[in-house]
Amino acid sequence: MSGVAERVVRNGYAVVFRSVFANMDPERAHHIAFAVIRALPKVPFLSRVVERYSRPSAADGVTTMGIHFPSRFGLAAGFDKDAKGIAGLGLLGFGHVEVGTITAKAQPGNEKPRLFRLVRDKALVNRMGFNNHGAVRAARRLERARRNPGRPVIGVNIGKSRVVAVEDAVDDYLESTRLLAPFADYLAVNVSSPNTPGLRGLQELDQLRPLLSAVRDAAVRTPVLVKIAPDLTDEQIDAIAGLAVDLGLDGIIANNTTIARTGLETPAAEVEAMGAGGLSGAPIASRSLEVLRRVRASVPVDFCVIAVGGVTSEQDVQDRIDAGATLVQGYTAFLYEGPTWATRINRLRRRRLRHAAR
Ligand code: FNR
Repeated sequence: MSGVAERVVRNGYAVVFRSVFANMDPERAHHIAFAVIRALPKVPFLSRVVERYSRPSAADGVTTMGIHFPSRFGLAAGFDKDAKGIAGLGLLGFGHVEVGTITAKAQPGNEKPRLFRLVRDKALVNRMGFNNHGAVRAARRLERARRNPGRPVIGVNIGKSRVVAVEDAVDDYLESTRLLAPFADYLAVNVSSPNTPGLRGLQELDQLRPLLSAVRDAAVRTPVLVKIAPDLTDEQIDAIAGLAVDLGLDGIIANNTTIARTGLETPAAEVEAMGAGGLSGAPIASRSLEVLRRVRASVPVDFCVIAVGGVTSEQDVQDRIDAGATLVQGYTAFLYEGPTWATRINRLRRRRLRHAAR
């Protein structure tokens, strides 16, 4: 989008956000916004115009894990839990879309309310609990989404079904892997969301090794990455990075939301009233950068590291690349910045890359 058109849409979104969305339950606002995104590809003229302006610069493309990504910047897991909006999200300028978390069994997630805004901090707290329609339905949708020639790269993030005991987690992840890997450009094994009891315990090496090695084998040729929590100690990060390399995994996604509540402007009582859940957005940026550096230091240069956590601006994207990220993702800032977010990042990256090439 030209700078002017983009500013008009961005300012329009800011007004809608302040006057409508900010007064609405955040999950309801998400459903409305997502319905519009999903409808976008059904309006051919509009989608052609949007696509023309949002498209990333070819110079920002990168090949990693044997896949060509049209740009370094993509949408993190959790926004499109059921693989329903891939085409629309691609039109908005995301070079890849990680769908999910998808579980083998369909499940409703936690009780509502389960998503909270911390507007002063440009942050969110969520305890969604992997609400999704299950792997069988997702596989059908992914099969259709893959046929679209202009689609973004599709990552599929899988997690443990809530009703399945932690001891039986491997079989549950394997069921999702067999159903979904054939339709995924890459598979992300989520062992780091704080909202499924026992899930993050799977990051312990004695549990993680059999899980990742089984998923790795069952995924056959589909690249497999593991997504980790920012609350791990440095030693745990080193150990998981070493394990991922040893097992022949293709990458690490660093990182998920945090259970910490430090450095917030929002009054502590308000934050406490929100209850348990994962914090995301601007306040987790510095820890995410630390985790990224730690991971990068423990893996080979060509090992894919996806940086996520608190990324808002194009400069943030560049800072993550400078710190060793192969790809960069974001989620929370999409809600605060609006539909032109990826377009703006793509435009600024085009300018930066053109300047660097001179
Ligand atoms: C998430 N995130 C997430 N991650 C994941 O692996 N599976 C999931 O289902 C979800 N669900 C989810 C829901 C909501 C409402 C949010 C805000 C986040 C985590 C997300 O992918 C990302 O790792 C973190 O949010 C950090 O990035 P941002 O949001 O700070 O850019």
